[in-house]
Amino acid sequence: MERLQKVIAQAGVTSRRKAEKLIEEGQVKVNGQVVRELGTKVSPSDEIEVNGVPIDKEEPVYFLMYKPSGVISSVKDEKGRKVVTDYFPEVEQRIFPIGRLDYDTSGLLLLTNDGDFANILMHPKYHVDKRYIAKVKGIPSKLELRTLAKGIQLEDGKTAPAKVKMKSLDKKKQTAIIELTIHEGRNRQVRRMFEALGYPVQKLKREGYAFLDLHGLNSGESRPLTPHEIKQLRNLAVT
Ligand code: URA
Repeated sequence: MERLQKVIAQAGVTSRRKAEKLIEEGQVKVNGQVVRELGTKVSPSDEIEVNGVPIDKEEPVYFLMYKPSGVISSVKDEKGRKVVTDYFPEVEQRIFPIGRLDYDTSGLLLLTNDGDFANILMHPKYHVDKRYIAKVKGIPSKLELRTLAKGIQLEDGKTAPAKVKMKSLDKKKQTAIIELTIHEGRNRQVRRMFEALGYPVQKLKREGYAFLDLHGLNSGESRPLTPHEIKQLRNLAVT
């Protein structure tokens, strides 16, 4: 038996919080009866309707993908460009990306049909480390990198402390490869952080997400998360 709001969120209808609101508003029926009790438990044989529409109870699935650059982190694109779910033609569940990587950023992206799980990982309260490798134009000084690490003023506020490591530099080409680990997830954050210092990002890849990395995957490939990894990711929310 599972809590009603969890089952609705897992079916990909909406988030658990919004499901709770729908239940309280009387928009959810179980076996034809309106249910307003938030704690209600349901079993797989129960028929659940949201706004008169039966939900499809989907098996929750979880994937780790190596997103190529030139792909949209979405389930559809109005302009017909390639989207990340195009890489999962055999998956019947309605999966979506957890957060996003820019069109021109490659690297580690998680996908699921479990709305609750996605909300946990995207909640700013839980600090999930995301590790990026950026190739920038120009060679930042140690002092400038320290500024990045301490937090830099962007138009939407100062960034939280980050970890920064110079990996290599090319004096002739005047480029540097820098590892940056942040736990915030603001729009184009890494690019904007380097831009604020005067070093435009030429290439960006996410190599790590919490304890996960891209080990064993080529660009465009994916694998299911193991039950243990799923549990560990859920645990991030309680620590
Ligand atoms: N920061 C960026 O600038 N782009 C991404 O895709 C992810 C983080």
